[in-house]
Amino acid sequence: MAGSEVAPLRVSAFPAPGKQHGGAPPRLAGRARDVLVFAAGVAAAVLALLGSASVLGAPGSRLVAFPVPGPEDGPRTFYDDPELSYDAVDGRRLTGWDAKRAEWLRSRGLGRRPAPERVVMVSGSQPEPCPGDAGDHLMLRFLKNKLDYCRLHGIKLLYNRDFLQPAMTSYWAKIPIVRAAMLAHPEAEWVWWVDSDAVFTDMDFSLPLATKYAGRNFVAYGWPDKIERKSWLGINNGVFLLRNCQWSLDLLDEWARMGPAFPEHGQWAKVVLSSLADKGNSTWFDDQSALVYLLLYNWERLGKKAFIETDYFLMAYWLDVVDRLDGVAARYEAVERRMPWLRRRHAEREHMRYAAARNAAVSGAVPGPAGGGYKGWRRPLITHFVGCQPCSGERNPMYSRESCDDGMRRALGFADDQVLRAYGFRHAAPLNDSVRPLPFDYPARNN
Ligand SMILES: *[C@@H]1O[C@H](CO)[C@@H](O)[C@H](O)[C@H]1NC(C)=O
Ligand SMILES: *[C@@H]1O[C@H](CO)[C@@H](O)[C@H](O)[C@H]1NC(C)=O
Repeated sequence: MAGSEVAPLRVSAFPAPGKQHGGAPPRLAGRARDVLVFAAGVAAAVLALLGSASVLGAPGSRLVAFPVPGPEDGPRTFYDDPELSYDAVDGRRLTGWDAKRAEWLRSRGLGRRPAPERVVMVSGSQPEPCPGDAGDHLMLRFLKNKLDYCRLHGIKLLYNRDFLQPAMTSYWAKIPIVRAAMLAHPEAEWVWWVDSDAVFTDMDFSLPLATKYAGRNFVAYGWPDKIERKSWLGINNGVFLLRNCQWSLDLLDEWARMGPAFPEHGQWAKVVLSSLADKGNSTWFDDQSALVYLLLYNWERLGKKAFIETDYFLMAYWLDVVDRLDGVAARYEAVERRMPWLRRRHAEREHMRYAAARNAAVSGAVPGPAGGGYKGWRRPLITHFVGCQPCSGERNPMYSRESCDDGMRRALGFADDQVLRAYGFRHAAPLNDSVRPLPFDYPARNN
């Protein structure tokens, strides 16, 4: 999959304030209310300042003024520590996170133990418009696909379009946002990074978080033979899971320090590029090479908590799956024609029950693992358009425009059909943007 060696995202200044779209001005009533709310806020802040001056304001005290917690905010937490930094580069190292998180959960009445299946998905794209033809339209479709999966599975989606740390450019930009997401979501047990050019192609599959990944803190898709050869393509970090814990913050810190925001970056580039088997002549030091190096050369220390998924397509290389999606859809339909209960129409909120029933039905009838794999005809969980560069259009020259464009549209349409089902529609054909209504008892009846 040398296909991922492509031009990095372009970075430029943020748009000038004047260029941002402004909506219609707020209605007067809204504005008046805002003024009132603002005035109340000022009063509270003044009180807080006065309070802190008299109570906490001893010279040299580290406790500077913070807004007095209101009764609904609960007791003080790590958020009230003025030294807490969301910054992966310039901030102070965060320690004791597991205890801080547990304390926050307790103080907010969210239980003694975190819920293993509480997930925040994080994805994102560049701050500027996409330079490629229809790039923004494709990014919208990729985002819609993630919204669909998250809505069906009760996952929160955080979509970021800012470089939180300007020096952490291109692919490195995911590190600061993943770290900030952990701090902003102490209720989430997992942060799930998904590249913008990855498509959910199985709306039914749920990650085995509480079972297979219990006791693990990092999960990514990989190829053991490539890891064996010390290839930078041994794992693909376009999709990965990090448990929201101190171990993960430490890993992010260690990984970030290899990045372009740190003076050691050049030194690390030499070490990593010469240590990995297939980077010998390259000067392109990316975040994936850094992560593969970190894991490979520290497996004794990190391996116990890391998990390289190989059983199902946590991330499939698109060329391995897109031509088979029509065959996959046909096999799922054949199963539904035999099983009337799977054809029953239902509310979207019941999706997970039907997903479980469909999974049980197809596991006996359609070969291959749930979540998809190299063998068989199960739906791949995620199809990753490595090298297609939908935003910039600067495809890796080894792929044709048609193969990338058709592949992306086929995968997105394949996913949309699974979602549209609950609304009574599907696409007229795999690459057709028109929809047609589904008859009652579809697919036993087809028109
Ligand atoms: C690196 O470059 C040398 C000389 O140009 C070449 O012989 C070798 O095959 C290259 N190695 C890789 C890994 O591309
Ligand atoms: C898409 O399907 C509609 C409805 O069946 C049909 O009228 C239209 O010609 C199709 N478009 C293409 C590009 O095939």
